[in-house]
Amino acid sequence: MTHHTPEAAQQPEVFVPFYGRILEVRDMTVREKYYKVELPRPLGHKPGQFVMLSVPGVGEAPISISCGPRSDNLLELVIRKAGSVTGVFHNLKEGQLLGVRGPFGSGFDITKFHGKDLVFVCGGLGLAPLRSLITPVVENRDKFGEVTVLSGAVTPALELYRDELKSWAKKVKVIRLVERTENQPWDGDGLGLVTKPIAGLKLDPAKTCAVLCGPPVMYKFVVIELDMKKIPHEQIYIDLERRMKCGVGKCGHCQINAKYCCADGPVFRLADVKDLPEALA
Ligand SMILES: Cc1cc2nc3c(=O)[nH]c(=O)nc-3n(C[C@H](O)[C@H](O)[C@H](O)COP(=O)(O)OP(=O)(O)OC[C@H]3O[C@@H](n4cnc5c(N)ncnc54)[C@H](O)[C@@H]3O)c2cc1C
Ligand code: FES
Repeated sequence: MTHHTPEAAQQPEVFVPFYGRILEVRDMTVREKYYKVELPRPLGHKPGQFVMLSVPGVGEAPISISCGPRSDNLLELVIRKAGSVTGVFHNLKEGQLLGVRGPFGSGFDITKFHGKDLVFVCGGLGLAPLRSLITPVVENRDKFGEVTVLSGAVTPALELYRDELKSWAKKVKVIRLVERTENQPWDGDGLGLVTKPIAGLKLDPAKTCAVLCGPPVMYKFVVIELDMKKIPHEQIYIDLERRMKCGVGKCGHCQINAKYCCADGPVFRLADVKDLPEALA
């Protein structure tokens, strides 16, 4: 396959951030914060896309869009404090400005899932990007077949979007697990890894699509379970993270073989990225 420079990379304005104002910021866990940002205009994003978020003089980081497509000019994000740039994001207060470039990435064409059975496997922070797809699926419930959301966290206190998971459970099947409770109250579906419930699901290989987002180590084990259910790799979507700089297929930082994670992904069909270590079953 030849390398390409996506059209977006040829437009100089994609390198210039616009500014959004933080309307709301709150702790979700000890290490993740939720942000609602007001943009100068609607972002017009698809589920599964991301933005490059920045503070002038500090730096930039790719952050997944956590809300479904919307016509207003609001953007929802979940940011884990991982290092220098995300540490500065965590210190920002309501009313302060964030630089935004994007939306970037190929994202999901949700209409391709119409009429299909869907299984979402969300490990930890993986729920933040998958919420951008799960929300419109739940809102348009009738357009889809069986829908199952599997959510795994390490402890109850580290679970993201608890209230929302519970409200989705009124319309779709939701299974919430934690690895251990550490004596915290837990009203989910028991203990275990997010892979555990898959063996017990009745999945029709002809019409089931699985969408996975979580730590790289999770993919391999989820794929083993899905292989046992005979789900074709063309119907398994994984969200991959690579170090990024430009976000638009120009700099090569995020290259995966001949593909650019930022422009061709970050969502890939397993069939297309099988040779990657985290995808190996
Ligand atoms: C497409 C995409 C979407 C993302 N979405 C989110 C999101 O919604 N919320 C969120 O909190 N984070 C997300 N990330 C990860 C986030 O971009 C990194 O945590 C951030 O860039 C770290 O920057 P830093 O300066 O704070 O940390 P640094 O000081 O650069 O690094 C701190 C630690 O984080 C590790 N690290 C840095 N970048 C990455 C990376 N890309 N992947 C894995 N480990 C990394 C470093 O190895 C180091 O151990 C996403 C990454 C990508 C590529
Ligand atoms: S090519 Fe620059 S981040 Fe992907």
